[in-house]
Amino acid sequence: MRLRRLRGQRLFKCICCIFFAFMFWTFVSYLFSFNDEDFPEDVAYDIFIDETKEDHVHIPLDQEILEELERIKQKKNNYADQVVDDPKDPIVLWWTEFTGEPGKTRRCGDQQCFFTNNRKYSSHKHMKVFMFYGTDFNDEDLPLPRSPDHIWALFHEESPKNNFLLCHEDVLTLFNYTSTFRRESDFPITTQHLISLDWLLQKTFDKTVSQKNSYQEEDGLASVIYVQSGCDPPSDRDEFVKLLMNYISVDSYGTCLKNKKLPEKISHPLGGMSHRDFYELISQYKFALSMENAVCEDYITEKLWRPLMVGTVPIVFGSSRVKDFLPSNNSALEVINFRSAEHLATYINYLNSKDSLYDNMRDWKSSGISNTYLKEIMEKRTWGPDNNGHWIPGQKNFIEDYECYVCEQIHETIKKVSLGEGQFTKWANHSHYGCPKPLKFNSLGKYAHEGNWLDFWSSQWERQRQKASSLRRCVSEGRCDRNKANL
Ligand SMILES: *[C@@H]1O[C@H](CO)[C@@H](O)[C@H](O)[C@H]1NC(C)=O
Ligand SMILES: *[C@@H]1O[C@H](CO)[C@@H](O)[C@H](O)[C@H]1NC(C)=O
Ligand SMILES: *[C@@H]1O[C@H](CO)[C@@H](O)[C@H](O)[C@H]1NC(C)=O
Repeated sequence: MRLRRLRGQRLFKCICCIFFAFMFWTFVSYLFSFNDEDFPEDVAYDIFIDETKEDHVHIPLDQEILEELERIKQKKNNYADQVVDDPKDPIVLWWTEFTGEPGKTRRCGDQQCFFTNNRKYSSHKHMKVFMFYGTDFNDEDLPLPRSPDHIWALFHEESPKNNFLLCHEDVLTLFNYTSTFRRESDFPITTQHLISLDWLLQKTFDKTVSQKNSYQEEDGLASVIYVQSGCDPPSDRDEFVKLLMNYISVDSYGTCLKNKKLPEKISHPLGGMSHRDFYELISQYKFALSMENAVCEDYITEKLWRPLMVGTVPIVFGSSRVKDFLPSNNSALEVINFRSAEHLATYINYLNSKDSLYDNMRDWKSSGISNTYLKEIMEKRTWGPDNNGHWIPGQKNFIEDYECYVCEQIHETIKKVSLGEGQFTKWANHSHYGCPKPLKFNSLGKYAHEGNWLDFWSSQWERQRQKASSLRRCVSEGRCDRNKANL
C-alpha cells in the first residue's frame, strides 16, 4: 500500500517533470523565436537591411538636402531656450519621454502653449494636456487619478505590433485627441512616409520593361523581390511569401526566407554603400512584395512608396483601403484581391510576359497622379515627413504640428467655456487606431484564420484587450491604485 503510493508519487513526479520540462522548452523556444528579430544572424548584412525594417524608416535624401538639414539643426542648437519657471500659458506635458523638451513657450498661430517633458509641471495650475507616445504608453505609469479637466492626447504613428494596448476601444476612448496613421484620427499622418508627389513621380531609377526583361534573362533575376529582416511579424507575411514561392520564383535578400545574397556593392555597408544602390536593386525587378508587418486600416509605410518611386510594381498587403492612396487605379497588385497565392502567381507570370500590360501599371509616372484624394491630402498637408529624425527644410515636422493642433484646440475649449457655451467634450474611439486581432494565412494564401493558443501575436493582442478593459474601469472609477504616478 505504502509502496504503491510511493510509486504513484514517483510516477506523478515524473509526469510533472516531463510536463514542466515541456513548458520550459516551449517557453525557451518562444523567447528565441522572439529574439530572432532583435538579433539577426548576419550582422554586417543587417546594418544595411535594417533600413528596411519597419521600426527604422530611413528615406535617403540628396546630399544637398542633408546639408541643409544639418544647418537647420545647428541653428536650432544655438537657439536659447526660454526658461520659464511659472508658465502662464496652458501646459502641454509629454508624459512619455519623447521630445526631451525641458520646458518652452511656443507660439501656435495666434495662441501660445508651454510645452515640456518635465513631470514636475503635472500639478501646476495651468496643467492642461498630457501627451503620450503610443509605443511607450504604459498602463502602469499614468497621470492618475485623472482630473476632469485633464486632456489626454495620443501620438502613435507606429505599427500596432509595438503596443497592442492601443488597438482597443477601451483605451482609445481615454484620449481626447489623436494623431495616428488612421484617416479618422484628429490629426491623421497616413502619408508620413511619402516625401512628396514630385519625389514619387521622379524617374531617377526607372528601368524600361526591356531592361527588366534582360535582367531576368541574362542575370537570372526573379520577377519578384522580397527584402525583409523582421521575420514572423503579426501579419504572417513570411507564410504568404513561402506559399507564393511554390508557384513563382522570388528573390529574397533579407533575413526572412533569404535565398539570395545582396550584390557585393550593397552588402558592405561601410565600403561606400549607399541607399541609391538599394533603390537601384529594387528597380531591376518588375514586382516588389510590399507587405506590412501588421494589418491595420491605413497603416502604410515606405514599403509601398519605395517600389512606386523606383518604377517597380508593388504587391501590397496591410491596409485594405490602400487603394485610396495609390497614385492611380492600376499601379499596384493587392494580395487581398486574389483568391489564392497561386492565382496571384499566375497573374504575375501573365503580366511578366505582356510588356504593354506591365507598362500600363507604370503609366502614372508619365501621365501624372490621377488619384484626386491623394493629391488633395498632399496639397493640404502642413507638415513634412520624418526622415530618420530629420525634417525636410521649410516643412514643419508633424510632431510639432500636432502639438500646435492640440494647443489650438485647448485654447478653443477654454474660450468656449469662458463664453458660457458649456463644457465641450470629445474623445476618440476605435476608428482612431483600432487594429484587428492578428490572423494567419491558410494553405491557399488567404489571411483568414486565427492562430492557435500558442500563437504569440494573437495571445498578446488578447492579453492587451483584457488589460485595456481593466484600465478603462479603474480610470473611470478613479481607483487605479497600482499606478505609481507621482503627482
Ligand atoms: C478608378 O476606377 C473606378 C472604377 O473602377 C473609377 O470610377 C474611378 O474614376 C477610377 N479613378 C481614377 C482616378 O482613375
Ligand atoms: C476627455 O476624455 C475623457 C475620457 O474619455 C472624458 O471623460 C472627458 O470628458 C474629455 N474631456 C473633454 C474636455 O473633452
Ligand atoms: C468615432 O469618432 C468619430 C469622430 O472622431 C465619429 O465621427 C464617429 O462617428 C465615431 N464612431 C463611433 C462608432 O462612435
